[in-house]
Formats: sequence, structure tokens, C-alpha cells
Amino acid sequence: MSGDPRKTAAGLSYLTGFGNEHASEAVPGALPEGRNSPQRAPLGLYAEQLSGSAFTEPRAHNRRSWLYRIRPSAAHPAFTRTDNGALRTAPFTESVPDPNRLRWNPLPEPPVGTDFLAGLWTLGGNGDAAQRTGMAVHLYHANSSMERVFSDADGELLIVPERGGLLLHTEFGRLQVEPAHVALVPRGVRFRVELLDESARGYVCENYGAPFRLPDLGPIGANGLANARDFRAPVAAYEEAAGPVEVVNKFCGNLWAATYDHSPLDVVAWHGNHVPYVYDLRRFNVIGSISYDHPDPSVFTVLTSPSDTPGLAGVDFVVFAPRWLVGEDTFRPPYFHRNVMSEYMGLIEGAYDAKAEGFVPGGGSLHNMMSAHGPDRETFDRASTAELTPQKIDDGLAFMFETRWPVTLTPHAAGADHLQPCYDDVWRGLEPHFRA
Ligand SMILES: [Fe+2]
Repeated sequence: MSGDPRKTAAGLSYLTGFGNEHASEAVPGALPEGRNSPQRAPLGLYAEQLSGSAFTEPRAHNRRSWLYRIRPSAAHPAFTRTDNGALRTAPFTESVPDPNRLRWNPLPEPPVGTDFLAGLWTLGGNGDAAQRTGMAVHLYHANSSMERVFSDADGELLIVPERGGLLLHTEFGRLQVEPAHVALVPRGVRFRVELLDESARGYVCENYGAPFRLPDLGPIGANGLANARDFRAPVAAYEEAAGPVEVVNKFCGNLWAATYDHSPLDVVAWHGNHVPYVYDLRRFNVIGSISYDHPDPSVFTVLTSPSDTPGLAGVDFVVFAPRWLVGEDTFRPPYFHRNVMSEYMGLIEGAYDAKAEGFVPGGGSLHNMMSAHGPDRETFDRASTAELTPQKIDDGLAFMFETRWPVTLTPHAAGADHLQPCYDDVWRGLEPHFRA
């Protein structure tokens, strides 16, 4: 559809910053000056606002963009229901919430011809998409580029590739996203996914709640964690392709499709702050202890979706990036704990420092609310007796979707062949060492 996608990806340029007012035009003069909706938009384009927040939300949280496009989005035929595949949406009511610690191997190979949308497989989630609360955990495994275009009215999509690069063609332009990068597609933004390699595998957090933002830094200061300047938004790029183009819309849990007579990725210029973006997780500025103990993993938060309760996130996206461990008289891996929040963890590459084996790239674990977890026996034994010289953790990249409510599984996740049967065994053999 676009020639050699690797070449296209290599030639892309970006705008930088998080939450700021970007502006971009693929054709000089396409952006109107001094107003958003002139009587006649430049170059014969249609002006259109895309709102990511209510009109009246506080300025600091207000999200909207103005798009200048060849045809208005309103010019489309009726949508009709289409197959949801393995995609499911909150409320998740088909299974009872499971207090057990659970772990999955990677998704199996999909059938030939599976695109990103068809390759989405919902593990579970919480909340209620129609109430704009909660989140869903999806995985994907695809071996074909999308010819169709997708948008999600239910939430924003945080895409976490584990294997295979992606070229996202969005209404705002194109983004390259490779493993160890994440991409965010805001609610309602249309896009299609072109594969940069033979197949692609990864994770998606669908956030029904408030849009992800950068966490406050408190005493950390003005810099650190994910720095705003490292987020990259696309520059405007448009398609003039004549149809037919299938456009799929996820709306309140179901997929609806319509056949357009043109590509809806026909935005020639835009400005605003409701934009897709990509972020390289290796740019994360890791903050940690330089004395003893280690901070709670909230210090690894890349993005947070706040709730109405200060400090209580609908979902946090957390990364366990390469870092030095230097704590004295400290058990250095993640400690044993029980958490009121629920934790889905995935692995992008390498190994995770609290699990010696069994947690593999492309797999995942779920530690639901108040489930007891922590290092496995082998890790405990090793870390309890290790000589505490400065140590670089640089052989893995794990992440977590941490959410305020328990994650209820889909039946296909609860009964999956790739669900590991004996995950509890990693904590067997933790013998008592108590001496009175
Ligand atoms: Fe945990």
C-alpha cells in the first residue's frame, strides 16, 4: 500500500513533547491562520474538531484537535455489526474474578492473513467501557498488514510491541513503533497497522478512563521518569486513495464496519493536543534508592490515568527498565507483597529480576488484588546471599499495567492452552528459616 514500509519508517520525522499544542501541515498553507474554522478552509479542505475531553473540562485536562481534511468524517455510510473475533470489552461478566496468581505463555501463531485487529485477543479487564471507567488487557499476534482502518470509541490504546515493528498510519500521520517503544492511539482516532516485519506480537492496554498523562513528580523535581520531550507525535500525512476502504469502529464493546468510498486517513493538516504519540522506553529516567531498600514500583510509572481520587489511578503503565541496584543491606529484587491494586505484567525482552524462569517475552502474569506474590524461591535464595556490590540490571525490559480494580478474565483467557498450569510452584520450597 505504501511501498517499502521500512523505507517509509526510516524517513519519518516527528514533533516532540507531551500534551502540548502541536501543529502540522503536509501541504504549505493548509492550516488556517488566526482561527480554527474560517468561512472557507484553505485549499478547499473541510475543518473538523475531534474532542478527546468534554468541551468544558479544565484547561489542563482539555484535549481536542482540529483536522483539515479532504472529506469530512461525517461523509460515511451506515455501520453494521461485524465479527468481534477474540476482542472483548468491560464489563467482563462471563467469568468470576479469580484470586489465583496466573501466568500465560505467549499467544500461539495466528492463521495466515491475520491483521492487527483480527489478532487482538482480550485477556480481561475491569470497569465499564460505556461508563468510561476501567481498562482491558489485550494481546495481539499478527502476520499481515491491515488493509482496513480501525478506531476505538471505547478508549485509548496503548500498544506495547514485543516482537516485530509496526508502522501506524493514523489520521495525524505516521508513527514507527518498535519493540521497547510504546505507541498511544487516542480515543476515536482512525488508524491502520502496517507490519514492518513478518509478524508482530505484543500487548495493548485499552484505557476506558481519563487519558493517560505524565505522573506528577513531587520531590523528584522538574525532570525525571518519562521526560515530556521524548514523546513524539507524527507530522501530517494524508492518503487520497479512492475506495472501497473498510472502516471498523469499536463502539461499546462491539465492532461495527462500513465500506467507505475513500480513505478516512485524508487529513492534510491539523493542530491540537489530542494526538497519537510514540515513546522509547529506553529513554525512561529511572529513579531509585542510593541508600537502602527500594522505592515502591510507582516510581517506575511512565503514564497514569487518574481517577477522581487523588493518587488512585484507573491504570498506571509502569516499566522496569535497565537500572543500577546499589542498596546496602537490602533485599534488592521486588519484595514480597500483597497489593490493593491489580497487576498485569508482561515482558518485552530478556528476563525479569524477580522471576528466574517461566516468565518469557510475549507471556504475562496476573496478580489480582491482594494476591500474595514476589520473588520466586530461586531468586529469593540468590538475592538473600548475594554479595551486595553495585549491580546493573540490564538484561530485561518488563512492564506492568497496574489497575485499581481486579481484572476479570475472558473465558478464552481462563481456559487458554497457553495458561501455565503450575504457576504457584514458583513459590514452593520457601522453607521457614525462623530461629527463636
Ligand atoms: Fe506486585
